[in-house]
Amino acid sequence: MTTVAPKPVFDKGLANTIASESAMSWIDGQAGVLEYVGIDIDSLARNSTFEETVFLLWRGKLPTATELDAFTTTIQGQYELPEPMWDLIGSIPVDAGPMHATRTLVSALALHDPEADDPSPEASERKGIRLLARTPALIANFDRHRNGREFVKPDPSQNMATSFLTMLNGKPPTDTMARALDVCLILHADHGFNASTFAGLVTISTLSDMYSAVTSAIGTLKGPLHGGANEAVIHMLDKIGAIDKVEKYIRDKLDRKERVMGFGHRVYKAYDPRATYLKTFAKQLADDTGNQQLYEISNRIEQVMHEAVAAKGILPNVDFYSATTYYSIGLATDLFTPIFVMSRIAGWVGHCQEQLADNKLIRPRCEYVGPHEMPYVPIGER
Ligand code: COA
Repeated sequence: MTTVAPKPVFDKGLANTIASESAMSWIDGQAGVLEYVGIDIDSLARNSTFEETVFLLWRGKLPTATELDAFTTTIQGQYELPEPMWDLIGSIPVDAGPMHATRTLVSALALHDPEADDPSPEASERKGIRLLARTPALIANFDRHRNGREFVKPDPSQNMATSFLTMLNGKPPTDTMARALDVCLILHADHGFNASTFAGLVTISTLSDMYSAVTSAIGTLKGPLHGGANEAVIHMLDKIGAIDKVEKYIRDKLDRKERVMGFGHRVYKAYDPRATYLKTFAKQLADDTGNQQLYEISNRIEQVMHEAVAAKGILPNVDFYSATTYYSIGLATDLFTPIFVMSRIAGWVGHCQEQLADNKLIRPRCEYVGPHEMPYVPIGER
């Protein structure tokens, strides 16, 4: 007896397709709500730390103090890079884009992990921890290398945000800056089946390995329609330069049917709840660091966009105010997306673990629109 396969549904961009189940993050795009394991993102941003948030996403519950301590110690115990990685960082061309460098370096971590191809959940979590713990040292030290500075090793007595900023700047950050980065890491840690997570899931669903999945995800995050948008926001703010130029710049852009970076979202048609929090945070940091002009230009862009397109559900997304926040922390613009990588590894690894626990190869179909029954014409007759 032949089985009749159900007729595939054509859903361009998979916008209306639920591809799998997850217990990590929940998004209500109409109401502008994001929860990690049922806890509102605003509450996590105010009260949690990145390390605690990763525990929540991976284990499905908030840790006790003892559990958090053990988890943090495990991550910090994996900060140090395998020795050959330092030479590899030093061999990357100094003018390489940091996302190319990040993708290459993260991929190379697999070469030094004897468990790289062990698919067990225990080994996968250990690889997740190594990826999470080591990526900050790769990014910060690539930045040092391209600026002709000596490498700085990670400090296992510091949390991830503090250790990253210490390596990057060669001195410990202020508490405010360390906390600002910690909050940004929390806000970017997971977001359902976004494009990079989905790319990672496609890779892991072939029973490839965690390093390959995360490398696929990094390549996907790089695009300006996804993680690259926050960098594009700063370029736009720079280009505009003054508040009185905002209105014309934005209206002209919309007239040309161009996209304003940092606005719009596939899922949110209300205010992105991460942007709500970051807006207040960006203002506070701008006041503290004297970057008010950038914040005020951003605010004016939001007003003009609101008048022009808010009715279509095109509102600021996480990247709009994270750009100003990162700028106030003093981070180089082209490091914004690599920092997104540092955070989103939490989501990628967690979703890959969920996929491995109940795997089915992800393999959609395409609608063939080419010709049929064409003759093969010999090359000399074409
Ligand atoms: N600026 C101006 N117009 C925008 C826009 C933006 N940022 N985002 C969407 N639109 C418009 C589109 O031009 C389109 O208009 P039309 O119906 O008149 O053709 C309509 O809104 C729907 O856009 P569409 O591309 O179909 O929506 P999507 O769900 O595929 O897009 C994004 C989602 C994120 C790709 C899109 O909003 C975008 O490109 N934003 C800018 C990049 C960005 O900030 N990315 C980070 C996301 S967290």
